[in-house]
Amino acid sequence: MDHEIENRIKTAYRETASVYRKNDELDATGKDHQRLCEILGMLSGSFGRPITVLDAGCGAGRYFHCLKNTRRLVGLDVSSEMLQEARHPVKEEEVSVAEIELVGGNVHTQSFPEKSFDLIYSIGVFGNGCGLSMELLSKFHQWLTPDGRVFFDAFDSSELPRVFRIRKRISNYLHQFPILNIRNRFRKERPESLPFYYYSKAEIVRLLEASGFFPVAVYPQECPMPLGEGRKLQCLASKSDQGKSPCCCRAA
Ligand SMILES: C[S@@+](CC[C@H](N)C(=O)[O-])C[C@H]1O[C@@H](n2cnc3c(N)ncnc32)[C@H](O)[C@@H]1O
Repeated sequence: MDHEIENRIKTAYRETASVYRKNDELDATGKDHQRLCEILGMLSGSFGRPITVLDAGCGAGRYFHCLKNTRRLVGLDVSSEMLQEARHPVKEEEVSVAEIELVGGNVHTQSFPEKSFDLIYSIGVFGNGCGLSMELLSKFHQWLTPDGRVFFDAFDSSELPRVFRIRKRISNYLHQFPILNIRNRFRKERPESLPFYYYSKAEIVRLLEASGFFPVAVYPQECPMPLGEGRKLQCLASKSDQGKSPCCCRAA
């Protein structure tokens, strides 16, 4: 991700952070939130030991209260205003995590020591301005413990018209080569807007496998809430093939 895009993301969330935090209150009453919360609760509680978690693109900390048996949570976000809001996240009184560290940074350039986390999740991040890449998933892979897991969502391209789908596929492919900067030729957005990324299930499975992950489930899900509207692919993968779990996800 280039600096220009990073700055546009920062600007967008600088202006909307407090509204976003207020919307968390509404979102947390909805079924979609409840469903995601159950998944995160099940995943975090499934290790049989207190774990360390990374929320990549944590925003205002909407899912902090869902985590179980978590001794340490790192909330990473590129927007300092969103991190400021995450100091008092929704359902703060239910947050059971012993230690929370809020870190300002871009997930694409951030580094953590190997095997820092048992669980990495990222919700509502891959789509508007932030793309998925093999490079990023490989970093997640490195940051996970041997039985670690990653859970994220991304916009589903399967419902886009064919021409748009082809354009997006080329655009996503070029995203892997930021140095060429030719992705811009495929952009039709206004200069100040953020690029939008969509993925097919096959693309995500390919990216996960190429990064060393074992995909457990990649499945489409309607997301009815105002800020997460649209059809998303929800993706769960483990670092080792022992980590496959039938716990919470429909078959890929
Ligand atoms: C739609 S919000 C979702 C926030 C939170 N995960 C949630 O579900 O409420 C997207 C968040 O991702 C952050 N973000 C976007 N691109 C990022 C990047 N490259 N690195 C770190 N954070 C990023 C934004 O600043 C914003 O807080």
